[in-house]
Amino acid sequence: MILVEPTAGTGGPRPAARRAFTIGKMPPVDHAAKTSVMTDGYREAINRNVSVAPMLDWTDRHCRYFLRGFSPDLLLYTEMVTASAILRGDREKLLEYSSEEHPVALQLGGCEPDYLAASARYGAEWGYGEINLNCGCPSDKVQKGAFGACLMNEPDLVADCVAAMCEAVDLPVTVKMRIGTLRSNRRDLDEAVQRFDEADYDKLCDFLVAVRAAGADCVIVHARRAVLGNWSPADNREIPPLRYDIVRRLKEDFPDMPVVLNGGLKTVAQSLEALDWADGVMLGREAYHRPMVLGEIYAALDEAAAAFDPAAPRVPYRPLTVAEHLERMAEYAEREMIKGERLPAITRHLLGLLSHTPGAREYRRMLSEGAREPTAGPELILRAAELATAA
Ligand SMILES: Cc1cc2nc3c(=O)[nH]c(=O)nc-3n(C[C@H](O)[C@H](O)[C@H](O)COP(=O)(O)O)c2cc1C
Repeated sequence: MILVEPTAGTGGPRPAARRAFTIGKMPPVDHAAKTSVMTDGYREAINRNVSVAPMLDWTDRHCRYFLRGFSPDLLLYTEMVTASAILRGDREKLLEYSSEEHPVALQLGGCEPDYLAASARYGAEWGYGEINLNCGCPSDKVQKGAFGACLMNEPDLVADCVAAMCEAVDLPVTVKMRIGTLRSNRRDLDEAVQRFDEADYDKLCDFLVAVRAAGADCVIVHARRAVLGNWSPADNREIPPLRYDIVRRLKEDFPDMPVVLNGGLKTVAQSLEALDWADGVMLGREAYHRPMVLGEIYAALDEAAAAFDPAAPRVPYRPLTVAEHLERMAEYAEREMIKGERLPAITRHLLGLLSHTPGAREYRRMLSEGAREPTAGPELILRAAELATAA
């Protein structure tokens, strides 16, 4: 059994480690040497093969705990937390997580180097394994704050932000980005949104050069342009076409820069194909709506590793069954409810466990409606497990 077992304890502050060099005098990034310090003190290189995307309102700590059950190697990301919220808001609540979620990266939103540096330091104190800067979100709110995808047009500012974050923490600092942006309020952008010419590619390369020189350890590229204007975030995740070819070209032109591919990945085959040239794949919506895909990818990678080196000692991967996932979550819910958490805050993330299978609808109804009953407790999740097993 190699899946992460629940252990007691939560992430919490630990003393910050600082790098010895200053902005403007940075040594080249030594990716092998930059490791994450886990809450219990040991250092571990981050495995970026497979990660789950930061998703606002979705990848909260309960969701991340659930997803951890699918693979011990997944790199999980928090929802975006703005630097100003960390500095001025309820920091304890914003940064709280369970130690079982490790490895987990904190995604920050913002465009002020000092704020980002200070927030990154809090992230390091809390024991996160990586600090990520959001340069890909096109929501209205984020555009008003002039961060997220707007930053794709401000490579020098992003470089200052990354450099300040790198100086503040002894952790990998990464950037989540798009392949470019387009400014328009029009919806009939067919031709413009399809186009990606050499000038666009040069701009993308300039961005990468800037963040790499500033010390970024890895870029995660959502392989679409973002349309800045009044498009909804949902349209911005669907309408601009996916351009894996552009991300691949970027990786070929910057072979020493770790590049993770994001956008539209749904299957094991797509993920393995991308891993032929990319340093990792990041799944968002599919991981949330059909988390089983994460176990399928893990099993395929495990099998590939065994075929590559049959003599290497290994513990065969045994995925948890649906019932075991739910039993694990029932135990978790019990612990969380004792601390005052509401059951629906946990059960809402479990709906995708059974999808396209007999009984899926009844299972989802039981969990979503049942959890709202005032007397509902963790046993509801166990009842859902019985239903899932019987289906
Ligand atoms: C509900 C939702 C919330 C999201 N919130 C964030 C966020 O906080 N930060 C971010 O960088 N991207 C965010 N994204 C974008 C995802 O991280 C990812 O880039 C996008 O969904 C494309 O990947 P996919 O096709 O695998 O879903 C969000 C996406 C969704 C669906």
